[in-house]
Amino acid sequence: MLKTEDNDLLTRVGPGTPMGRMLREYWMPACRAASLIADGQPQRVRLVGENFVAYRVTDGSVGFIYEACPHRGASMALARNEHNGLRCIFHGWKVDTCGKVVDCPAEPVDTRDAFAARVKVKNFPVREAGGMVWVYLGEQEQPPAFPEFEFNNLPDSHVCAQRGLVHYNWLQGLEAHIDASHVGILHSGFLNSKKPVGIAKKDLSLATAHAAPRTEMHLTNYGLREGALRDLGNGNTYARIREVVLPFFTFIPHAPDEPCSGRATVPIDDEWDAEWYILYDTQKPLTGEAVELLFQGTSGDPDNFASNLGGPENLWYQDRASMISHFSGFPRSVPFEDFIIQESMGVRMDRSNEQLGRADLILVQVRRMLLEAVKNFEAGEPAPWNLTKQEYESIRAIAATIPSSTPWKELNAIETMRKLAAE
Ligand code: FES
Ligand SMILES: [Fe+2]
Repeated sequence: MLKTEDNDLLTRVGPGTPMGRMLREYWMPACRAASLIADGQPQRVRLVGENFVAYRVTDGSVGFIYEACPHRGASMALARNEHNGLRCIFHGWKVDTCGKVVDCPAEPVDTRDAFAARVKVKNFPVREAGGMVWVYLGEQEQPPAFPEFEFNNLPDSHVCAQRGLVHYNWLQGLEAHIDASHVGILHSGFLNSKKPVGIAKKDLSLATAHAAPRTEMHLTNYGLREGALRDLGNGNTYARIREVVLPFFTFIPHAPDEPCSGRATVPIDDEWDAEWYILYDTQKPLTGEAVELLFQGTSGDPDNFASNLGGPENLWYQDRASMISHFSGFPRSVPFEDFIIQESMGVRMDRSNEQLGRADLILVQVRRMLLEAVKNFEAGEPAPWNLTKQEYESIRAIAATIPSSTPWKELNAIETMRKLAAE
């Protein structure tokens, strides 16, 4: 349960809001890199309540500016993308990827260049990594260190990042990813099916044979780790360790021989959220089968794989006949089960009437951390959780059988996987 004013503080992300200002202090995925073609169509991108365009120019570099033309506000999504710049089709102003106006043909020839040089265009730093274009929208002169997660430094063939646009507030997206207690219930239809998604067969049998795990949390400088621990009774523990990298990222445990899986929950505005699903393999190219397993039943559009989700007016196409064998009645897709439940809670849910139990402790903890962070940020402290390159690189979730004597909180997932793979 959350007081209305705290709920507002966490969920309002528009320009000038405390949370909106703080979230801009993190690099965030904006669009798929492959959706930007050199000299091709600019992509509209809405983030934290404002409209932008991303575009790739002739030399391959990417620009990121407000959608409104710096002259009189015509949409730059309509602009011509020509010779290393975006040219507004209203009066022809042309902006390069450094945010410089390089032409304004309606101005008198003798004063044109001097005038163009005086025009200010806000452009934002971008990076391409993990198949995504990332942007920093914050106020600092120097952006924070780029989040060098493992998936951001792999060949294209090893990573698949797709985005789903969903109609709910970003905090609901994050809470869906950190809430582990729903997995065995909401997704039980898939867990009980022949081909469970994103979990290896032997892990599934360990998880289901030892139903209720002991759950422990470990706070870190980037958020928290959560261990779901099952004592196997033979001196070993089956540990599923999730990573929550605030404010946007969660990493889902997977067996050493399975691809890794990350999620980013990025606010579009108060009522819309971009859900990034990132599948990656650090050792080898992803197989089509692994990608298909995660995205089966979705729209097939990597820029919005949730475009066929449905909505409240059609109850998201719930198939009640299927509920005899499939618990939720949403047998199309696991991600869709999450999206639908979150949409069903309202576009910016009221948390003042919740009745939380022990299974919800992680929600309480994360809300507490976010509230503390945003209040400190308002008081002038820097945004927390930004890490160094090495720290980002070391983050990986894991599901593995380990000796019960191993302190899971200090377990290095990458090292452990390497050892297990060698065995
Ligand atoms: S509004 Fe774009 S050039 Fe005038
Ligand atoms: Fe889920």
